[in-house]
Amino acid sequence: MKVVEGLAELREARESLTKPVGLVPTMGTLHEGHLSLVRRAKSECASVGVSIFVNPAQFGPTEDLDAYPMDLERDLDLLAGEGVDLVWTPTAAEMYDSGYQTWVEVEELAQYLEGEIREGHFRGVATVVTKLFNSFQPDRAYFGQKDAQQSIVIRRMVEDLNFPIEVIVCPTVREADGLAMSSRNSYLSPEERRAAPVLYRALLAASQLFSTGEREADRLRAEMETVLATEPRARPEYASVADPATLEEQHGPIEQALLSMAVFVGKTRLIDNLMVGDK
Ligand code: PAF
Repeated sequence: MKVVEGLAELREARESLTKPVGLVPTMGTLHEGHLSLVRRAKSECASVGVSIFVNPAQFGPTEDLDAYPMDLERDLDLLAGEGVDLVWTPTAAEMYDSGYQTWVEVEELAQYLEGEIREGHFRGVATVVTKLFNSFQPDRAYFGQKDAQQSIVIRRMVEDLNFPIEVIVCPTVREADGLAMSSRNSYLSPEERRAAPVLYRALLAASQLFSTGEREADRLRAEMETVLATEPRARPEYASVADPATLEEQHGPIEQALLSMAVFVGKTRLIDNLMVGDK
């Protein structure tokens, strides 16, 4: 496994990869969720690259950029164990030099849900993913369903900007009690960790209601809110029933929806989602 930092080194190493090349973009602190993306990429591509970059541009001024967990040595061991061919660990100074001034914005899809609360977040994500794509030039790129809106925004961007890249979205990987894997789970105290599966329970309750025939978006949202309210450590920011194509909040009857939520458990902000009525 080759590990490179500079862009010139990356370009050179990339030249010797056999096509199709799969890329798994990450911010490090890898867990089973990331490794499931790597395994999927391995099963579908002749070569697999991983980028590890904690992208400052997608963190707001009051967010956890400085505290974001990082353990490069452990990450590299895990990736070597998965048979990854190339790892790129760019520096922030190289990604955004002092004169940096070009940004990618996906206008409408980035306004809702996470975008409404985390101002500028998707501008940071779309910009860095553009740079990763341009630098790495993968044929396929792998993202997790856990960040549902991110995947939707990136698909739109790939379509709009004619990237010759197939975006593959892989299922959320969960702990045995349903908690979606996330690097941020490491912030949770033992009590908070015990409280955290309430997100998945709330999503499941609404999804079960949908399977028994409930179609009113407001009732599905209320079901999620009721379950979240049973956990005193959980402080919901939103529980949403959105159109999976436009991400607009739904109120009448629905046939299909992205159920999603952002919930503080202690100081840690967790997100999760489930699709209902998926064909
Ligand atoms: O999902 C993530 O880890 C990040 O948002 C990504 C896609 C690597 C961009 O920084």
